[in-house]
Amino acid sequence: MSTFLPESIAVYLPTFVQIVYLITASMFIIGLKRLGSPATARSGNQLASLAMFIGVIVTLFDREIISFEYIIIGVIVGTAIGALLAKRVEMTSMPELVAVFNGFGGAASALVAAGEYLRIAEVNLPGSDLFIMCISIFIGSVTFTGSLIAYAKLSGKISGNPITFPGQKPLNALLMVVILGLSVYFVIDPTYLVPLLIVLGISLLLGILFVIPIGGADMPVVISLLNSLSGIAASAAGFVVGNSLLIIAGALVGASGLILTNIMCKAMNRTLTNVLFGAFGGDGGAAAVGEGGPKNYKEAMADDVAVMTAYAQRVVIVPGYGLAVAQAQHTIREVASLLEAKGVDVKYGIHPVAGRMPGHMNVLLAEANVPYPQLYDMDDINPEFEKTDVVLVIGANDVVNPQARNNPASPIYGMPILNVDKAKTVIILKRSMNTGFAGIDNDLFYLDNSYMFFGDAKKSLQTLVGAIKEL
Ligand code: TAP
Repeated sequence: MSTFLPESIAVYLPTFVQIVYLITASMFIIGLKRLGSPATARSGNQLASLAMFIGVIVTLFDREIISFEYIIIGVIVGTAIGALLAKRVEMTSMPELVAVFNGFGGAASALVAAGEYLRIAEVNLPGSDLFIMCISIFIGSVTFTGSLIAYAKLSGKISGNPITFPGQKPLNALLMVVILGLSVYFVIDPTYLVPLLIVLGISLLLGILFVIPIGGADMPVVISLLNSLSGIAASAAGFVVGNSLLIIAGALVGASGLILTNIMCKAMNRTLTNVLFGAFGGDGGAAAVGEGGPKNYKEAMADDVAVMTAYAQRVVIVPGYGLAVAQAQHTIREVASLLEAKGVDVKYGIHPVAGRMPGHMNVLLAEANVPYPQLYDMDDINPEFEKTDVVLVIGANDVVNPQARNNPASPIYGMPILNVDKAKTVIILKRSMNTGFAGIDNDLFYLDNSYMFFGDAKKSLQTLVGAIKEL
């Protein structure tokens, strides 16, 4: 019973708390649903944030935490760091930020479980609670160090190339067995803290060993998986402290992270096992080495591109990672507006894994106020290419490589692509003949209907704007 509320009100507190938890859990689910469309994503995010805020306040009351000094200091420091990071981070570095957030989420869950043990060590807890404590510490710690390695790889602080050594997988398996054995020992005799500390130490090590063999460019998939793990760790921590909201929120994060991981793997035509254990994809960006020596490609200048696009009936814009690097989203919007003013029908074709994070292109184009109805998913835009006059491929490479359709020997064979080669003319904006993420040459560049328009995407598009205006 609450000691800080009048007794007549305090009797209703537990029921009230559970009702609020139910409402906030529903708000999370509605918020997640709204994230499914760019038009409602912002309000979905706000709704889920509000739910989290209400959940935290109610939990503080429920646990009779009414001395707020430390909490307020934590909120101020945390908000300041979070706001600064969110403001300063470049869109291309977003996966790194998410990696760090996941890592701290995992660490928080592990600390909650460890803290709960220290708080109630003297109480005779059932074995299942003690085992969940171990699970929470294990998953939270793996997520923490794994995410830090993912961050270091993505930010170039360590090499993005897979780091492997003989016996790595058996070692990981052995460490898992040791963790399991020690957890069982801890459940049998929880008075002895050392097994739990060893579980913590090995789990931290396992997080590192788990992520170092994975290529830097596969990190977005790993981050999505770690995001899922941070949710599962939070859910386990929820069981430890007996908080239903934490269990639900963690389960939602865990499930949605897994679904996203699956979507990403499918769109790359890879299995999760191949991503985790295939040691595929280092830093990327090597020079193209076409089989059978140099091949011929045609070049186009801004004036040519202006004529081709301005006198076309249908133009499809296909953005990729290079658009994000060049920050060319506003300039492409300007090009599109100029073409539309000339009566051209302009659409955008979005590949599910264009760029380096889920929804990368949608976020960039939304930032440039590109109207949502002009954005077409791969399956919707593919049938349109045959009747398209010009496709502008901007900083995209792998997601438009016909090898994925035609060459069974290609590492990307089977990956669904945007069939831009079926259009009458394809113009590819990039800086050189270098490869993209998959590190392979692109047959598209050498087709009869393809033209390379070399340069930084933003600068090329700025020149194109000038050229279209002069027509
Ligand atoms: P990529 O295949 O990576 O190609 C990007 C191209 O952009 C490069 O070839 C590069 O060529 C060009 N570029 C870079 N900076 C540029 C600039 N400033 N101006 C103009 N061009 C520039 O990109 P994509 O087609 O978007 O495909 C994404 C790849 O990442 C896929 O293989 C996908 O499987 C992988 N991936 C995606 C995700 C998610 S969730 N999106 C996650 C993991 C992996 P130059 O150097 O010649 O300019």
